[in-house]
Amino acid sequence: MIAGVVLAGGVGERMNSSIPKLFHNLLGKPIIRYVLENLSGLALNKIIIVVKSDLKEKFQYTCGDDFVYVVQDKPLGSGDALKRAIPELENFSTVLVVNGDAPLITTEILESLISSHNADNVSATVLSTVIDDPMHYGRVVKDELGNVIRIVEAKDATEREKNIKEVNTGAYCFSVDDLRLVIDRMTNNNAQGEYYITQLIEILSSMGKRVNSYITDLGSLALGINSRFDLSLAIEKLLTEKMEELMQGGVTIVSPENTYIEPDVRVGRDTVIEPFSVLKGNTFIGENCTIGPSSYLLNVDIGDRCDVFYSVVKNSKIESDVRVGPFAHIRDGAIIKSNAAIGDFVEVKKSIIGSHTKAMHHSYLGDADIGERVNIGAGVITCNYDGKNKHKTIIEDGAFIGSNTNLIAPITIGRGAVTGAGAVVTKDVEPDTVVVGVPAKILRKKEEGGKGE
Ligand code: UD1
Ligand code: CA
Repeated sequence: MIAGVVLAGGVGERMNSSIPKLFHNLLGKPIIRYVLENLSGLALNKIIIVVKSDLKEKFQYTCGDDFVYVVQDKPLGSGDALKRAIPELENFSTVLVVNGDAPLITTEILESLISSHNADNVSATVLSTVIDDPMHYGRVVKDELGNVIRIVEAKDATEREKNIKEVNTGAYCFSVDDLRLVIDRMTNNNAQGEYYITQLIEILSSMGKRVNSYITDLGSLALGINSRFDLSLAIEKLLTEKMEELMQGGVTIVSPENTYIEPDVRVGRDTVIEPFSVLKGNTFIGENCTIGPSSYLLNVDIGDRCDVFYSVVKNSKIESDVRVGPFAHIRDGAIIKSNAAIGDFVEVKKSIIGSHTKAMHHSYLGDADIGERVNIGAGVITCNYDGKNKHKTIIEDGAFIGSNTNLIAPITIGRGAVTGAGAVVTKDVEPDTVVVGVPAKILRKKEEGGKGE
């Protein structure tokens, strides 16, 4: 049986932040979530996360109950962190250990690491990569036969070792039995006064146990996020991958370098993403849409053949053949039904806009349930808030709401009713009735089958 251990007890000083490093936002999700998703893709029987004691609840809240949380009271080093997880490894033969700050080491890479470890039947396998400038990373030191004999941190390395370009990514496979033999033999007499996980490699090797390295070609991206600069590189890498995936799926992205799309976004074939668009969260866009230029979508479900032009849409649903924008704001559970149009400077909050209904200019539609083929004139406001509570506006099919009408909710405007320009409507309006004025009064009933004008 194989277990996973995520080392997440470090301090992350180089981020220069009051937010713990692994909670920094990487394309809409905290860094740690990527690492856990990558591990979850493997057939592990248990995943253990080693955390700082004061962050245990925060980790639990963010990562959920599928994991075992182990506390490291003091940040005594990565080796000490692994030691905290040992009691959880009973009945396991192999353990995969990863750093919590390396979100780009994919499931596939980890799978290859495990396969290589099992195939060679070694005591430990280090996931390494080769880079031109090995900087502050741990060097992988090998003997003439290619066996790993130690990993030396840059601060402790000799001049000769500093020239080694194969570096430790911080992911390892260990035989659990061998790990138990050496876990209490770490010392902290090194440049940082820490218990290094990497010392375990040296101890195993000196006992005559075989240690291999498995080299990934991911390069410096495998080495985790230590600084804001590293974070920006990870963002760039994931964005590029996402855009490539979408383009292969038949999506046109006019200017990839000026577009932001988070990993969980799905886009249908022949949709065009115009420049300066931001697609976030669980956003799903159908086929043959045009999004942007300059649209911001967060958790939005959009049908086919829609046009969202210079607009903001959040946590809402838009059916097919809908036109939005420019400069519309649709939010908080709004539903825009097929063939509707939401025009410039229209805000729609928590409202249903029926099929073929049009609200083309300067409106606020909040807590409203609007039927089919309704015309919302310029400047119409649903006055949904009385200072204490929010109230509902119902506008039935075929109503005509004149320009600058104020609808004082709660209120119902009947089917086919008409409000005159500038009306302040304080009472329900019967179907097919024309009201005008402040406060609005009945002008007349519409004639049978007539238009009421
Ligand atoms: C570590 C490796 C280095 C490797 C590099 C790759 C060690 C000693 N060195 O260096 O060889 O090239 O990763 O990025 O591991 N942690 C704890 N508790 C602690 C200290 C650290 O859980 O007390 C965790 C951190 O959260 C992190 C991991 O251990 O996930 C590595 O620690 P970090 O301080 O980031 O080591 P690096 O200097 O990056
Ligand atoms: Ca690190």
